[in-house]
Amino acid sequence: MIITFATQKGGTGKTTLAIAFANYISTISERKINVFDFDYQKSFYYKWKDDELSENPKLYEVEIIGDEEQQPFSDFETLINLKDSDEINLFDLAGTLDAKYSDLLIYSDFIVIPFEYSDVSVKSTLVFINMLGLLESEAERVFIRSKYDKGYKYLNQEEMDIELKKFGLLLENPVFKKNCLQKIDTRKLTYEQKYGVRKSFDELIEYINQTFKITL
Ligand SMILES: Nc1ncnc2c1ncn2[C@@H]1O[C@H](COP(=O)(O)OP(=O)(O)OP(=O)(O)O)[C@@H](O)[C@H]1O
Ligand SMILES: [Mg+2]
Repeated sequence: MIITFATQKGGTGKTTLAIAFANYISTISERKINVFDFDYQKSFYYKWKDDELSENPKLYEVEIIGDEEQQPFSDFETLINLKDSDEINLFDLAGTLDAKYSDLLIYSDFIVIPFEYSDVSVKSTLVFINMLGLLESEAERVFIRSKYDKGYKYLNQEEMDIELKKFGLLLENPVFKKNCLQKIDTRKLTYEQKYGVRKSFDELIEYINQTFKITL
C-alpha cells in the first residue's frame, strides 16, 4: 500500500507527521515499512542518517528519490508493485506542486494532508484538493489538523471543516502544537510525542483498516 504525506503548502508538518507515523506504525504493525523521501530538501532522509548515531535500533529504511529523475515512476510497474504490496510504503513530499508527483498522487492509496487554519494554508489546501480532483487521483484523502493550538480561536474552522469533509475524511483529533514535536527522531517516539499523535494516528489506522478490511 502507498500512504503519501503531501500538500502544496510548505511547513505544515508533513515530514514531522510522516516520521511520527512511521515510528508509531512500526510499534504496532508486523508489516515492513519503507519510507521514500521525495522532497528535494531530503529532511526525512537526512534526519534518518543523523540518527545512525543513536543507540536505538533502526525501525525502517529510507530511500531518496533522486532530483534528476523527472518521472521516477515512468516504468509504472514499480509504483503499482508498491501499491499492491502488503508492506507499508510511506512517501514524504515537498511543499510544492510538481508534475513529477502526478503518478504518485494518482496511485497512492491514502494521501494524508496536514493543514492549518490560517488563510494562506486554507487556500493552498483547497488548491491542492482541486489539483487531486483534476488528476482524478484514486487516493482516499485524509485531512489532519496540524500544529493545532488549543487556546486559539480559529475563525474559519467551521467553514473550512464543512468544505474539507466534502472531499475526504477529516480526522476528529488534531495534532496539537507541542514543543516536543519540534525535535523528532526516526528511531523512537518519546512518551510525550506518542501522546501528541496517538489519537489522530489511531483514527487514521482505523480508517485504513476499514477501507481495506485489513489489520495494519
Ligand atoms: N505539532 C507540532 N508542534 C510543534 N511544531 C511542529 C509540529 N509539527 C511540525 N512542527 C514544526 O514546524 C516546522 C515545519 O514542520 P515540517 O518540516 O514537518 O513541515 P513540512 O510540511 O514537512 O515542511 P516542508 O514543506 O518544508 O517539507 C518544523 O520546524 C517542525 O519542527
Ligand atoms: Mg517536509
